[in-house]
Amino acid sequence: MVLTPTAVGAGVFLLLGTLTPLGALASAFAGLAVGAALALHLASTLHAGIEETENELRDLIDENFSETIYEKNKLETILRYMTDGTVAVDLEGFIIHANESARKILRMTDDDVRRKGYDDIILRFTDDLTLAAILDDLESGETGGSFSYGGATYDVSFGTFKDSYGDDGGVIIIFRDVTESQELRNIQAEFVANASHELKTPLTSIKGYAETLLAGGIDDPDMSKMALDIINKEVDRMKRLVNDLLQLSRLDANRQTWHMRETDVIALVRMAAKKQGVTAGGKRQQLNLLSKDKSFVLTIDRDRIEQVVTNIISNAIKYTREGGRIDVEVVRDDHWLYIVVLDNGIGMSERELSRVFERFYTGNKARSGEMSGTGLGLSISKKIIDEHGGHIVVQSELGHGTRVVISLPLKPPKNAEDSQEHMADSNA
Ligand SMILES: Nc1ncnc2c1ncn2[C@@H]1O[C@H](COP(=O)(O)OP(=O)(O)OP(=O)(O)O)[C@@H](O)[C@H]1O
Ligand SMILES: [Mg+2]
Repeated sequence: MVLTPTAVGAGVFLLLGTLTPLGALASAFAGLAVGAALALHLASTLHAGIEETENELRDLIDENFSETIYEKNKLETILRYMTDGTVAVDLEGFIIHANESARKILRMTDDDVRRKGYDDIILRFTDDLTLAAILDDLESGETGGSFSYGGATYDVSFGTFKDSYGDDGGVIIIFRDVTESQELRNIQAEFVANASHELKTPLTSIKGYAETLLAGGIDDPDMSKMALDIINKEVDRMKRLVNDLLQLSRLDANRQTWHMRETDVIALVRMAAKKQGVTAGGKRQQLNLLSKDKSFVLTIDRDRIEQVVTNIISNAIKYTREGGRIDVEVVRDDHWLYIVVLDNGIGMSERELSRVFERFYTGNKARSGEMSGTGLGLSISKKIIDEHGGHIVVQSELGHGTRVVISLPLKPPKNAEDSQEHMADSNA
């Protein structure tokens, strides 16, 4: 058994205290001894305790510190790679933090960040987003705004942050570049306006002739025939337009189903040209098919490529005067097959040429006049050729003619192979 100083002291104290009159004194000594022993013990325990607590505290601080560093690094990395510009400004208007994107958006130099106040910088672009304006907005419950600069549009959102005492420490302002989505919204709005306009024109004409017939025109056989002819043509035009719109929407949404099959491209081009022979003949145009090869097989979506070739040849016929000439040629090199459609028609200016693939673009109406369609043909063609991994290039000279080159890769693109395998699977 091990006797601790406390146990020894307590034993002496009990013994003396009960046997002699000097018990009190003795017990006082004994008490002292016990106290000393106790103090000794306490001190050593306390020392060990302090050391332990100190270690624990140090561990805790270390842990908290590395956690803080970790959080700080994490936050900095997030801010650095955020495409949104983020600026933190204290209530006196000093920039506490500006990430890379914010520096780019607000064209801030390091010196700006160090020396300039937030207002000095934002005032270069707009006076709606000064610190005072933002604080006013926040006061009235608004948390965002927008500004445009140099052709770009930014959505801005802001909010306050608290300091370590829980008081308002400043504001965080986030700038998001919405130029692209804004442009997309404009394009969509323009598209709907164009489509409605294109539908309204034939509808107005149909309504007009139907009313003429109802108002008595029906009793005049010549008048009836003319009105019905026009109504019939306008309905065809509307049908074509609606089909084109539906196809564009399928292509845009990647919902177009592709049937990639081995196809003799020469035979396909010959057939497309032949189908338009009558129209060309009606304008006394020469439509020639030139190709060294008798046949050439390529994996393509037959119907869609025929649609493209038909559109390009029909453009050549439409935009070439009576008696003109159209040459359709199929050539190839080691990697590509080219379908070339050359006409000696009205041609296009450089400005018109730069816009031919835009939806609803129909060029200079004064020259193409009645001939022009709805301006969807080339934009649909481009999407179809893109999907085949190919290119479509238009060259033109005003008054001299136009040359359209469709190039298709001899090796089908990856998705075309997949689609072919898929078809083979589903046929099995
Ligand atoms: N071979 C060509 N010669 C001269 N201009 C052309 C030729 N091909 C196209 N263009 C011009 O480009 C415009 C756009 O052509 P696109 O085929 O997309 O539309 P479209 O022929 O007017 O109508 P759609 O094909 O939808 O019926 C035409 O309106 C025309 O002004
Ligand atoms: Mg066309």
